[in-house]
Amino acid sequence: MATSGTKSPLTVLGIETSCDETAAALVRLAADGSGAILSNVVRSQLDLHAVYGGVVPEIAARAHVELLDAAILQALSEAGLTLDQVDAVAAAAGPGLIGGLIVGVVTAKAIALGRGVPFIAVNHLEAHALTAGLTDGLGFPYLMVLVSGGHTQSLIVRGVGSYQRLGTTLDDALGEAFDKAAKLLGLGYPGGPEVERHAARGRATVKLPRPMLGRSEPHFSLAGLKTALRHEALARAPLSDQDIADLCASFQEAVAGILTDRVSRAFDLYIERMGTCAQRALVVAGGVAANQRLTTALATVAAKHGFRLIVPPAELCTDNAAMIAWTGAMRLAGGLTDDLAAPARARWPLDPDAPPALGAGVKA
Ligand code: KG4
Ligand code: ZN
Repeated sequence: MATSGTKSPLTVLGIETSCDETAAALVRLAADGSGAILSNVVRSQLDLHAVYGGVVPEIAARAHVELLDAAILQALSEAGLTLDQVDAVAAAAGPGLIGGLIVGVVTAKAIALGRGVPFIAVNHLEAHALTAGLTDGLGFPYLMVLVSGGHTQSLIVRGVGSYQRLGTTLDDALGEAFDKAAKLLGLGYPGGPEVERHAARGRATVKLPRPMLGRSEPHFSLAGLKTALRHEALARAPLSDQDIADLCASFQEAVAGILTDRVSRAFDLYIERMGTCAQRALVVAGGVAANQRLTTALATVAAKHGFRLIVPPAELCTDNAAMIAWTGAMRLAGGLTDDLAAPARARWPLDPDAPPALGAGVKA
């Protein structure tokens, strides 16, 4: 880890406002490179967006304005700290919904300026990628698969600020596919947990496509699967409870098939690029990592390739500020702080040199 320069413990306030969670946390990085979460406050806006069946950016930005100060005060109080004891302030500065990002970034800059401590603009994806160092003390390098509502990527994590993207989605993100599947089956939002719940009493008997299977590039494509599910649902309408359960089980099995095939390809590329002696660890992050069927399938395929599977606890896989504070602390230890002019960025790829995936849409 890039923490060799750390002389004393570093305490960092982290702020997360990139989507629909308003979050603040305090994390301490010890001189030995280990991390401790002192507080981790997440105020979900789920109920504000659920009636619309998805996140409404303008509502999210306004809610961040209303909730953020209280979340920061609660995080400080739960950690038993004041702002005088904070060594730096880190905020998710992208990628994400620009209105929300601006709220978090401006707040962090104001605190940093007022207290005379460094500001750190954190890439939200880097924060997901580095979480395993906080939860499991995992050193570099490792393979990471990020599966959330907005992102689906496999990456080689070489070190702080050093990433190589292997696969990305050509269309929908994995969580987005679950949300759309749930919507077309008349289930609630967010769709992932609903689909998993109904799948538990269903049989995976409906034949659905598994796009991209066997392709040499480890990219994902999910739009065709969703369309096929719509056709199957229409063909069976009106849907009985058992139909819904069977369609959910079939959809989830198809996703498991796609995910394991695409990640298998990423294992091969990781070994090709990092060498056979490189640490073999797969970290899964993002809200979809909560799906038991998918993590079980990943565990099987990881074992087959000799990789250890690491799934951080659910509350640290989904969006949170502890991962932002931890990334801030790692960057601070490495002398990587930011100017107060650093912007919020709606798009911010972790690996800017990654070639565009052919046909990739906005999620690449
Ligand atoms: O990482 P996350 O909390 O937020 C971002 O998208 O940044 O991920 C939310 C996504 C949603 O699409 C949700 O449907 C999905 O994660 N999800 C699941 C499950 N729990 C949450 N997908 C499949 N199975 C689950 N159990
Ligand atoms: Zn996220």
